[in-house]
Amino acid sequence: MSLTSSQMKFLSINELVLKIGKILDQNQTVGYVPTMGALHEGHLSIIQRASIENDIVVVSIFVNPTQFNNVEDLVNYPRTLDEDLKLMAHVSNLFVVQPEVSQVYSEKIPYLPFDIGRLSRTLEGEFRPGHFDGVVHVLHNLFHLIKPSRAYFGKKDFQQLTIVRMLVKHYQFPIEVVACETFRSKEGLALSSRNRLLSLRGMTDALIIWQTLNFVKEKKYTLDIKGVKKVAKDFFSTGNLKLEYLELVNENTLMTASTWEESVVCFIAAYCEDVRLIDNMLV
Ligand code: PAF
Repeated sequence: MSLTSSQMKFLSINELVLKIGKILDQNQTVGYVPTMGALHEGHLSIIQRASIENDIVVVSIFVNPTQFNNVEDLVNYPRTLDEDLKLMAHVSNLFVVQPEVSQVYSEKIPYLPFDIGRLSRTLEGEFRPGHFDGVVHVLHNLFHLIKPSRAYFGKKDFQQLTIVRMLVKHYQFPIEVVACETFRSKEGLALSSRNRLLSLRGMTDALIIWQTLNFVKEKKYTLDIKGVKKVAKDFFSTGNLKLEYLELVNENTLMTASTWEESVVCFIAAYCEDVRLIDNMLV
């Protein structure tokens, strides 16, 4: 593996664990950005933030098999290691690790499953059964190995962020969870590793997601929640995407919102050219 920068170090998990032990002994902080690779500008902005806010930043690249409920999706998931390394080359204090499945799921890591209850069955959970169990398991094990001071997550995966906060509390990890704003193209498309699978036409079609989120924001208060949900779905259907769900939920509980007095987040999941895209907005 040729390194693209003298500042970036590609470490084995064992080397990383030793390095982090020394950093923490010196009361320095470790910022951690877990990824599945196929990095884009959105990841980079999170990594840069973690680099500024901590003494070192660790990026893991691990396509986690247990969070894919569809084998085809796992096989097709983009893998672009050389490009990933180039993208991060100028970040200082960066350590990159690409652990093996056997290391992340080592039997030596004591994992007691944590039932996230209703959150595993709603929104993403309803359409991707088992997905969040896989996310909880992998993050538990990665946090256990890496022992970060802060862990960074994008708000694009808002439900994942909510669940990460729960798991950190449940397992009593001394980790601060940092939420990062969704990074968008100038047209409004939320950056996602999956966007690479879209044609140019698909990228344009996918903008209906952003337009619909803004439509919901504009319509807030003009109708009740159910009314806005209905007209928003009608608006969405003028585009070319296949809607999986459009929900208006309470920001904290992720339960269906019943009034605009609540802090309401609109969630959308839809297929564009067979690529599943998600986005959300606090409206
Ligand atoms: O958001 C992701 O890329 C993944 O769910 C994560 C947090 C890296 C766990 O595999």
